Amino acid sequence: MAEDYHIPVLLNQSVDALNVCNGGVYVDATFGGGGHSKEILRRIKGNGMLYGFDQDLEAYENFIHERDIYGDIDNSFQFVRSNFRFMGNFLKFYGVEKVDGILADLGVSSRHFDSDTRGFSFRFDAPLDMRMNQKAEVTAADVLNAYDEKRLADIFFLYGEMKNSRKVAEAIVRKRKNGKLLTVGDLVSTLEPFCKQQRAKKDMAKAFQALRIEVNQEMQALKEMLNGAERLLKTGGRLVVITYHSLEDRMVKNLMRTGNCEGDEQKDFYGNVVSPFVPVNRKVVTPDDEEMQRNPRSRSAKLRVAERI
Ligand SMILES: C[S@@+](CC[C@H](N)C(=O)[O-])C[C@H]1O[C@@H](n2cnc3c(N)ncnc32)[C@H](O)[C@@H]1O
Repeated sequence: MAEDYHIPVLLNQSVDALNVCNGGVYVDATFGGGGHSKEILRRIKGNGMLYGFDQDLEAYENFIHERDIYGDIDNSFQFVRSNFRFMGNFLKFYGVEKVDGILADLGVSSRHFDSDTRGFSFRFDAPLDMRMNQKAEVTAADVLNAYDEKRLADIFFLYGEMKNSRKVAEAIVRKRKNGKLLTVGDLVSTLEPFCKQQRAKKDMAKAFQALRIEVNQEMQALKEMLNGAERLLKTGGRLVVITYHSLEDRMVKNLMRTGNCEGDEQKDFYGNVVSPFVPVNRKVVTPDDEEMQRNPRSRSAKLRVAERI
């Protein structure tokens, strides 16, 4: 069942923001368990088209497994097993120049965290893999065993916001002199001395998050996808993004305000910022208490919406 795979976050708020209309063409950049896709398809009612991207084979298998649910709306849905950074190329392949809306619900799914074989969680001893795309070359073990100390420290600092990033990187380099880090257990035992007792789980989670972001090149992929959105969206089309990390949120916020992920402002003659997007909500949308209680993994979610002008 899709809910076992992943509970969709900010479901109604995000799909409402897409403004799904009769005959419209939409992209779900992060299909996962298909929660958002199903809601978009329910609103399309067989008259329109949805392209659902995911780079993970398990997401595709989940779609196939649930095919009967999609049933007669099959003609309105195309699964694309690819990184969303190649969205423009794939849409062109399917003969689509412009779309009415793009929704992205970033990061990993609950399926990733709950897998005891893929190395995303410190709860299960498994090979240090962490690849969302099982065909990608670089695993978490590759990063830990090949990167130099400074590069490792930068990753833990930037993506994990870890104050002790240098010490952690130093310990990893020391440890690997006695043999490669290959399993989650190898990493956990190296990190343990740096995790404060009361917040050990949080500290561990930060280190795992940082590694995962690096392994999957998540910031780079997001930047490419966001940069392509301007060209792909029709005038009036919506860009709807749910983020779970402050760096992701900053990129999205910048793009929606200025048209670029860096937030560099282009101004017109009168000093007004010129941008291909206009933000739809002044304030970022977050889950309410009820949603956070029902689905604690929604805690850090932030939804931003912009319209192509
Ligand atoms: C938070 S989950 C999405 C859950 C989905 N909205 C649902 O309701 O079930 C994120 C999904 O996006 C996929 N993903 C993350 N980054 C991706 C990328 N750059 N390209 C394609 N898929 C990506 C992951 O494999 C994961 O399945």
